[in-house]
Amino acid sequence: MSRRPGNPSRRLVDGGGLPFVGTIHSKTRSSPFLTIGLVLGAMLLVGFCYHQSGGSRNDLEAVSRVEGSTSCTVEVQRAIPILKKAYGDSMHKVLHVGPDTCSVVSKLLKEEDTEAWGVEPYDLDDADASCKSLVRKGIVRAADIKFPLPYRAKSFSLVIVSDALDYLSPRYLNRTLPELARVSIDGVVIFAGYPGRQKAKDSELPKFGRPAKLRSSSWWIRYFVQTSLDENEAVVKKFDQAATKRSYRPACQVFHLKSYS
Ligand SMILES: *[C@@H]1O[C@H](CO)[C@@H](O)[C@H](O)[C@H]1NC(C)=O
Repeated sequence: MSRRPGNPSRRLVDGGGLPFVGTIHSKTRSSPFLTIGLVLGAMLLVGFCYHQSGGSRNDLEAVSRVEGSTSCTVEVQRAIPILKKAYGDSMHKVLHVGPDTCSVVSKLLKEEDTEAWGVEPYDLDDADASCKSLVRKGIVRAADIKFPLPYRAKSFSLVIVSDALDYLSPRYLNRTLPELARVSIDGVVIFAGYPGRQKAKDSELPKFGRPAKLRSSSWWIRYFVQTSLDENEAVVKKFDQAATKRSYRPACQVFHLKSYS
């Protein structure tokens, strides 16, 4: 199987979005990797079942660690119940921005009283049939997030972004983050990777090109202050309370910003 050249960051995220499929695909000839992939897959499945049935704290953390080394887009899906507690009615009309957005949009559309749209920052070449259907309906679209988003101001009650801002330099962040705030009414939720957590992927980096710029929480907070974006303290509190109650520990950094008033 040969990898087509393309956006290097997309490749990195691709591997992250579908960790086990990727492992099995690219390593079919060497069975140890296949075994590891299958074992991890089984762990994830077991963890997921526990999660569904409200499993114990340790199980949740195990899943969180597995997923944490892969993708924050997966983390968004896990966080939906907590986000609903924190944002209530603001989860009514959601835009997700990030790789593999179809997976998040499909999940959100299954929630009651939730409309969802998605922006895929890279390409949709590998989209499956259900994703292609979302694209045909205009629910998901590909757009370069370094440029203004193709939506009117205040089009969505909430904007959630994952695995996308990590790849932007401050120069582009300065344009993109205000854009996310512009199209939202009640806020922007940022899921960003933790520096150091993606260590497991280092061996694969030569294949993917340059890594994401994972920034510390103090970097982000300084950046928000610099660019006059306010964190929504009330929501932060609600989110933390809901997370504690459900023993949910995000594997990514989660920030809650206010939209422009
Ligand atoms: C981004 O915007 C902030 C605030 O306006 C500014 O201080 C900073 O220099 C900008 N950074 C870049 C790289 O343009």
